Amino acid sequence: MGRKFFVGGNWKCNGTNEEVKKIISTLNAGDVPSQDVVEVVVSPPFVFLPLTKGSLRSDFHVAAQNCWIKKGGAYTGEISAEMLVNLDIPWVILGHSERRLILGESNEFVGDKVAYALSQGLKVIACVGETLEQRESGSTLEVVAAQTKAIADRVSDWTNVVVAYEPVWAIGTGKVATPAQAQEVHAELRKWLHANISPEVAASTRIIYGGSVNGANCKELAAQADVDGFLVGGASLKPEFIDIIKSAE
Ligand code: G3H
Repeated sequence: MGRKFFVGGNWKCNGTNEEVKKIISTLNAGDVPSQDVVEVVVSPPFVFLPLTKGSLRSDFHVAAQNCWIKKGGAYTGEISAEMLVNLDIPWVILGHSERRLILGESNEFVGDKVAYALSQGLKVIACVGETLEQRESGSTLEVVAAQTKAIADRVSDWTNVVVAYEPVWAIGTGKVATPAQAQEVHAELRKWLHANISPEVAASTRIIYGGSVNGANCKELAAQADVDGFLVGGASLKPEFIDIIKSAE
């Protein structure tokens, strides 16, 4: 089964009204492959979601960067999956390492969030990835398998899930994983899906890479058999995001 290339832009906690408008106008002017070739999803901070959705070209989609673990209510400061659905926001990023590590989100908490968001009709970019310490101690595959299992234990339909492999040591550091390092973990993750979920889910689920992807290194990473796209941080705020989208071809 063919897996459509997927390029996500995670703007993280960046941008002013003016800067966001500028990024959107750059994206709108970009000459990129058609939707049949690449799925593009950008993820502004919550407060800029309506502006982005309202002015972004129609072949690009938007994602929230998080949502609450269950139905909304008395949870000060949270945004519920229902609210995103109400605003017609189709995607949400869950389990980003910045939330796992800084805000203490456990594998189980992320798994519950993924299951709830899917149950409400959202599509999920679910992030996994090891720290430098975990990589150096040889536990990379064990760590990403445990993160993936916590999702698999709670989710039966993987149609609306994209897995983002983001080694923490590569995020925002300029130290991108080599194509071989990325391919190795992506292939192992796909094997894990094959063995623990089904051959069909393994064949159809997109596994994208994130961590210091830029216009210069994206082509070689995109050429790896099990790299189905990218989740881009810093470079998604710059015009080179267009070049990264073009690596789909
Ligand atoms: O979600 C995106 C990743 O954290 C990658 O960020 O491209 O700035 O390294 P980066």
